[in-house]
Amino acid sequence: MMYVNAAVCLSVLLLVIGLSVGHNVINFKGSDALNSAPLIDGHNDLAYNLYDLLNNNLDRFNFTKNLTDDKVWGTNVCNTCNTDLPRLRKGKVGAQFWAAYVDCASQYKDAVPLTMKQIDVIKRLVAKYPNDMQFVTEAKNIEEAWKNGKIASLIGVEGGHSMDSSLAILRLYYELGVRYMTLTHMCNTPWADASIVNDNSVHNLTNFGEAVIYEMNRLGMLVDLSHVSHNVMRHTLSITKAPIIFSHSSAFSVCHNYRNVPDDVLLMVKANNGVVMVNFYSGFVNCNSSRKATIHDVVDHINYIRNLIGADHVGIGADFDGVLRMPEGLEDVSKYPDLFDLIFESNVEPRWTKEELEKLAGRNLIRVFQAVENVRDTLAKTESPRQDIIDVRDVSEAEVISHIQPGLCQTSKEWDDIRNNSTSRQ
Ligand SMILES: *[C@@H]1O[C@H](CO)[C@@H](O)[C@H](O)[C@H]1NC(C)=O
Ligand SMILES: *[C@@H]1O[C@H](CO)[C@@H](O)[C@H](O)[C@H]1NC(C)=O
Ligand SMILES: *[C@@H]1O[C@H](CO)[C@@H](O)[C@H](O)[C@H]1NC(C)=O
Ligand SMILES: *[C@@H]1O[C@H](CO)[C@@H](O)[C@H](O)[C@H]1NC(C)=O
Ligand SMILES: *[C@@H]1O[C@H](CO)[C@@H](O)[C@H](O)[C@H]1NC(C)=O
Ligand SMILES: *[C@@H]1O[C@H](CO)[C@@H](O)[C@H](O)[C@H]1NC(C)=O
Ligand SMILES: [Zn+2]
Repeated sequence: MMYVNAAVCLSVLLLVIGLSVGHNVINFKGSDALNSAPLIDGHNDLAYNLYDLLNNNLDRFNFTKNLTDDKVWGTNVCNTCNTDLPRLRKGKVGAQFWAAYVDCASQYKDAVPLTMKQIDVIKRLVAKYPNDMQFVTEAKNIEEAWKNGKIASLIGVEGGHSMDSSLAILRLYYELGVRYMTLTHMCNTPWADASIVNDNSVHNLTNFGEAVIYEMNRLGMLVDLSHVSHNVMRHTLSITKAPIIFSHSSAFSVCHNYRNVPDDVLLMVKANNGVVMVNFYSGFVNCNSSRKATIHDVVDHINYIRNLIGADHVGIGADFDGVLRMPEGLEDVSKYPDLFDLIFESNVEPRWTKEELEKLAGRNLIRVFQAVENVRDTLAKTESPRQDIIDVRDVSEAEVISHIQPGLCQTSKEWDDIRNNSTSRQ
């Protein structure tokens, strides 16, 4: 009888424990991970829209308003407008890298002053909404800002053309608070090929391109490999002293677009301890032209990368405000929680854990950022600013390829140099 009682007591106890454990598991939603870790998005082009639509006049922009039906920023009038504070809040965004992007048409022309304007407008936007945003330049401050209810706001320069082949400009961008630079946009620079080059190879990464990577390592600026050719991805990963990021790129095996990351490079990212922040753009996540992209395509890319290289190396870099079409279910910045719910529900083995979802959301990026800062602090003991100067012939050739008259945009001394040497080289 005593045994029976004990057995009954034990099974009641187990039932109660089981129910309470089961209760928690049943109640956990993927999006709950966004309450326990900051969601850090790697790429948003709102600043380019501010330039394009308002010439950066913030008096004409109300960020605290739901702009979905706005007559300038609304979904019906602006294909690339997906962002405002109410929707960022609903989307549980904890941190955002705002892209300082300028068009490739400005390469060899006014790319530097235009980029400065974009850095300025991002800083002014953040300063104008201090209850909602906080400017951040160090990894440790991301989580702190988020815990204080602010969207940690960081700057990434999108496209190496913005540094005009000058390490001096690169260093000054860092001083202004820029924390990543995408090595190229859609155009080649004189020192690195863009993804379009996979159809037509040019230079890969030149000696000067290597100097750019080393100087970024020394500064503590994240090297962003989104947009570069697959060979430049490989080359950079084989020489960098710090982990790298892809701020907004998806998986090439799932959708064969050269903006996406091929498997061999994904494996290099794992070895490098870096992170691939998955792009949502319909054209990158779904390559089947007979159907429309949906949120499930993005889930597939995230699962593919996690299954190949692990949950430590995948993140989110939606590309809102930068592209014309977003998948059904991910139309604007309010939709991230739906994505996290679906990822958690997705039928993959092993199932995503809460900790892994937190890494996906933002902890991977923070880990990489901290590692980059540690490399900076180590190199500071032995290295000085690099003084490499690009070979003007590389610039001259690149200008010819871009249909720009060589020397047109150089200083008079460099122009002389090119002219003097172009005759002797024939
Ligand atoms: C901005 O929009 C909010 C919310 O719609 C509104 O309360 C506020 O008055 C607006 N601010 C300006 C300056 O128009
Ligand atoms: C913004 O407005 C749209 C259209 O009125 C609405 O569907 C959406 O729920 C609103 N979003 C927020 C975060 O208020
Ligand atoms: C670029 O790199 C690839 C792979 O390493 C190599 O096959 C190709 O020859 C390189 N191209 C140039 C122009 O150096
Ligand atoms: C492309 O989508 C169509 C329509 O959903 C489908 O029937 C077809 O099987 C898909 N093709 C591939 C290669 O997945
Ligand atoms: C280029 O040649 C001109 C004429 O010979 C000369 O005056 C000038 O100093 C040279 N420029 C450079 C940078 O060597
Ligand atoms: C130009 O030619 C001179 C003389 O051959 C050489 O010393 C110099 O390095 C060349 N400059 C560039 C930028 O190639
Ligand atoms: Zn981009």
